[in-house]
Order: sequence, then C-alpha cells, then structure tokens
Amino acid sequence: MSEFRVDPYEKGWMVASGILLFFFLLALGVSALYGFRLPDDERHTERNPTAADSPFANPGVVERSPRRFDAYLWAQIWSFAPNEIKIPAGSTVTFHIASRDVQHSFLIERTNVNVMVLPGQVTKITARFDEPGEHRFFCAEYCGIAHHIMFGKVVVGPRS
Ligand code: CUA
Repeated sequence: MSEFRVDPYEKGWMVASGILLFFFLLALGVSALYGFRLPDDERHTERNPTAADSPFANPGVVERSPRRFDAYLWAQIWSFAPNEIKIPAGSTVTFHIASRDVQHSFLIERTNVNVMVLPGQVTKITARFDEPGEHRFFCAEYCGIAHHIMFGKVVVGPRS
C-alpha cells in the first residue's frame, strides 16, 4: 500500500484556494450585513413612486441648462416610458433609468451606453449627441416573452 502523499506544489495551491474561499466568504458576510452598492447606483427608488416630487412620477426629458438634459425613463415589461427622447444636436444627456418589475438593460446604439437596469435602483449614465440623427435604444437583457419589442429611440434634431 503506497503512502498518501501530496506534492508540495499542489499543497501550496490547495492552501491558496482555501485562503481565497475564506475571503469570498468574508465578502459575502460583509455584503449581507452591510448591504452592497452597485456602480452607478444613484439612489434607491420605490417601484411605483407616487410622490409628486419624484422625477419618475412624470418621466421624460428636462433641460437643466443650455444643451444639458436629464432624461428619466421607466423600464418595464416590455417597453420604455417614454420610448422617444428628443434633443438638439450638441446635447449632453444624463439618463436616469429605473425598473418597475424585473431586470432590464439599456443600450443606445452608436454610443458607449450599455447598462443594467435593476429593480429598486436608479441607473445613471451620461452620453453626448453631437450629430443630428436617430439612435435606437434597446433592452439588451432577456426579460421575458416580448423582450424583443422593448426598444425606443433618441431623436437628435438640428443644432438649436
Ligand atoms: Cu427588458 Cu429585455
């Protein structure tokens, strides 16, 4: 009967894996006790805010200063509200997107916008639109039977 022996090199990796597992467990414990924040989590929101002062009570585009806009959108099965954003060329738009139900995402073609939209969170991302034209936006996270019809567009008009 041969002696049970672990190669020192393998033993080293077993110990390293054990240490890693300990830190993963620690991270899990800390996040369970203190909660965790996702990138771009601006603030938490109610699923159906009824407060009159919530920008999500009346979603749409708000001009904050010349060519600077805030756009508030609801993502819900299976549409965006509103599903059309109109701005003049040269605009910078900060999108604030919240989900009413399940996990969605928000992707604007020909931009670097491609973010998750999670229930109970507000996703915030800024994009600049220099040229007139249309950019379609989509839900790019499978969210059910009619996921494929969940889209809208950013219409960039002539420079004002
Ligand atoms: Cu919403 Cu896919």
